[in-house]
Amino acid sequence: MSTPITITSVRPSDVDQLLSLSRKTFYDAFEHLNNPADFEAYTSVAFTREKLLAELENPDSQFYFAVIDNEPVGYVKLNYRNTQTEFKDTDAIEVERIYVLASQQGKKIGNQLLDFAIDKAIKEDMKYIWLGVWEHNHNAQRFYARNDFVECGSHHFWVGNDQQTDILMKKELR
Ligand SMILES: CC(C)(COP(=O)(O)OP(=O)(O)OC[C@H]1O[C@@H](n2cnc3c(N)ncnc32)[C@H](O)[C@@H]1OP(=O)(O)O)[C@@H](O)C(=O)NCCC(=O)NCCS
Repeated sequence: MSTPITITSVRPSDVDQLLSLSRKTFYDAFEHLNNPADFEAYTSVAFTREKLLAELENPDSQFYFAVIDNEPVGYVKLNYRNTQTEFKDTDAIEVERIYVLASQQGKKIGNQLLDFAIDKAIKEDMKYIWLGVWEHNHNAQRFYARNDFVECGSHHFWVGNDQQTDILMKKELR
């Protein structure tokens, strides 16, 4: 069953809402799978108000909330040009983050956010859309494969002192 959502652009003035949603969804998804010290080292840098505000103010990054009853229940972060963590092609978009509250998962909210990103990339005449997903995150890998993303490489990602591997997946649009 699909739950209808509204997708809204996240503005710098929404930083506190974004910070709280980003922290909650990331902790719920990954805290129990990581060494506590490494996890804390990563989150204390990645999820600060200053860092998110700088990302919101960067014209090459865009955040969108999935909203139900005026409450954000998920979000997606899209990177253009040099803000992409790999490739940095001008005719590509990276989905750097896509997160839905644990209590709202499995209702196609993530699917609607991903469709929104894909439609946007098509309208902007992008050649491909891509993302990195943790090698142990099989749920998300299945979710992307169902949306026709295919594996195209890997890159490393540090969570504190723990070097992790992300599988890179892309969807060709032309
Ligand atoms: C991955 C994620 C964004 C997908 O969003 P979503 O709204 O749950 O996705 P959808 O409802 O569109 O599709 C969910 C699919 O994954 C499965 N699934 C994954 N997590 C689920 C959960 N907690 N509850 C129910 N189903 C889940 C469902 O079976 C469904 O597959 P199906 O359509 O073949 O039955 C979301 O589950 C999430 O935020 N996960 C935690 C964070 C994460 O891993 N983000 C991606 C980082 S790369």
